[in-house]
Formats: sequence, C-alpha cells, structure tokens
Amino acid sequence: MPRLSGKICVVTGAARGIGRAIAEAFHAEGATVIATDKDVKAGQAMATTLGCRFERLEVSREADWQGFEAKVPTADVVVNNAGITGFEEGAVAHDPEHATLEDWRHVHRVNTDGTFLGCRYAIRAMKARGTGSIINVSSRSGLVGIPMAAAYAASKAAIRNHTKTVALYCAQQGWRIRANSIHPAATLTPMWEPMLGSGAEREERMRRLVADTPLRRFGEPGEVAALAVMLASDEATYMTGAELSLDGGLLAGSAAAPG
Ligand SMILES: NC(=O)c1ccc[n+]([C@@H]2O[C@H](COP(=O)([O-])OP(=O)(O)OC[C@H]3O[C@@H](n4cnc5c(N)ncnc54)[C@H](O)[C@@H]3O)[C@@H](O)[C@H]2O)c1
Repeated sequence: MPRLSGKICVVTGAARGIGRAIAEAFHAEGATVIATDKDVKAGQAMATTLGCRFERLEVSREADWQGFEAKVPTADVVVNNAGITGFEEGAVAHDPEHATLEDWRHVHRVNTDGTFLGCRYAIRAMKARGTGSIINVSSRSGLVGIPMAAAYAASKAAIRNHTKTVALYCAQQGWRIRANSIHPAATLTPMWEPMLGSGAEREERMRRLVADTPLRRFGEPGEVAALAVMLASDEATYMTGAELSLDGGLLAGSAAAPG
C-alpha cells in the first residue's frame, strides 16, 4: 500500500538535489506531487520526467506565494526545501567580520523569509481540514556555528526554531497539523559542485570534507527523502516540533575521527 496515496504534497526547490529526490519519493509513494522552483526550465523538465505538476515559485516573494495559494488552495504536505548557501555566484565573504549586510540579507530572504512564507501558506492550506505535515529542511549548520557561512548557519537555526513555533501554534489551535525540521549534513547534490570542482582534486576534496564524519561519506539525497516520506505519512502522527539529524554520526560526539 503506497504510504502517501491521496495526499497533495507541495515541494519547494524541487528542480534538483534534495527537493527533487523528495518529489520523486513522494510520487513513488502515491502522492499527488506539486513540484515548485524558481528555475522554470529545470523544474518543468523534472516534472515532465516524473509526471507531476510544476508551478514556478520563488520562495522569498510574497506575491508568488499569494499566486500559488490561489492555484493550490489546499495541501496535505508542504516541504520547505528551497535554500541557498550564499556561495552560488562564487566566493563571497560570509564570515561574521567581513560579510556585507546585503549578502547576509540575501541568504535570509530565501532561507528564513522563504520558510516563514511557506509555513504560513501551509497553515492556511491545511487548517480547513485541520490536518497536515509541514517539513522544513534546515541543516546541521542550524545546530552548530559555521565561521565562514554565518548567514547560512543563522538562517538554518531560525528555521529550526520557527518550526517549533509553528508546531506549537498549530497544536494550540487544536489542529493535527504537524511541523518538523530535517537537519542533513553534507549531502551530495549540485549545491556542492562549485566547491568540489572536477579533475584529480575532486576525490581528495570530497574525502577531506567528510574526514570528520564518523560514516566517512556524503549523504545521498534519497536518504533525506526517505525521512521526508516518513514525516509526510500517517506513520508520524505523534511527531511534531521535532528536529531530525541525518549526519553520518557527526553530532553524536566530538568531531574527532573514530579510533
Ligand atoms: N546538500 C547539502 O549538503 C545540504 C545539507 C544540509 C541542508 N541542505 C538544505 O537542503 C535544501 C536543498 O539543498 P540542495 O543541496 O538540494 O540544493 P541545490 O542547490 O542542489 O538545489 C536547490 C534548489 O532550490 C532552488 N531554489 C534556490 N533558491 C530558490 C528560491 N529562492 N525559490 C525557489 N527555489 C529556489 C534551486 O533552483 C534548486 O533547484 C536547502 O535548503 C539546503 O540548505 C543541503
């Protein structure tokens, strides 16, 4: 029996990476998937391949969410996955001493404002039926400090905390609308490509990036998607306000390598 049959599932940032893997896993579990992304070409191509609906949605724009709400007024599951590091256009100073206010705000507009608007949409799209699952993709970086990615870390910490506020608010209203956050560590998606590069150095860079991870490898997008399926399904009806790590054991202890 598919675990998500009959559920309308909205996924932001679904054109590639973790969002795409979540859309694919939801589809495989019988959900009606509405994939969204700011990248229309890649999003439409992905949706055509999967056989699902696509809507353009830039998560930081309130007007986009209003337009989306008019087209998709009800949802059972909303995954607020779209996010940026701030390094998409190349090397930018994101340490707390040198980051510019505009670079800081750019990351927060997408990650923090985008998730706030996505949660607000989700509550409005779920409250008539009084049930649903909101899944916010935070990060390991939302649980620890990251010296060279201050805005990213702060925005992911805001997502973690806002998820708990949403969970408590919905419970307070007497709704069975759950909200939980997912905290992946390094997961191999196109987000990493500018940092990994190509050629002989690539393998060595990858090895160094996960040297402190007890499982000594990157996570796979499908591993994040498997957790999203569980949270979206009726198997997780008593889980709300929780934060779930997928980090190869990184936060289990100190960063010292085993042995
Ligand atoms: N890859 C990792 O190692 C990792 C680790 C922890 C958390 N995350 C989080 O997982 C989420 C997905 O990451 P990914 O690695 O798949 O990234 P990615 O860059 O591979 O894909 C992100 C997708 O989001 C879309 N997007 C970006 N900004 C958007 C916006 N403003 N509005 C709508 N769509 C937008 C992009 O077009 C792209 O399709 C992000 O929130 C990221 O912070 C990733």
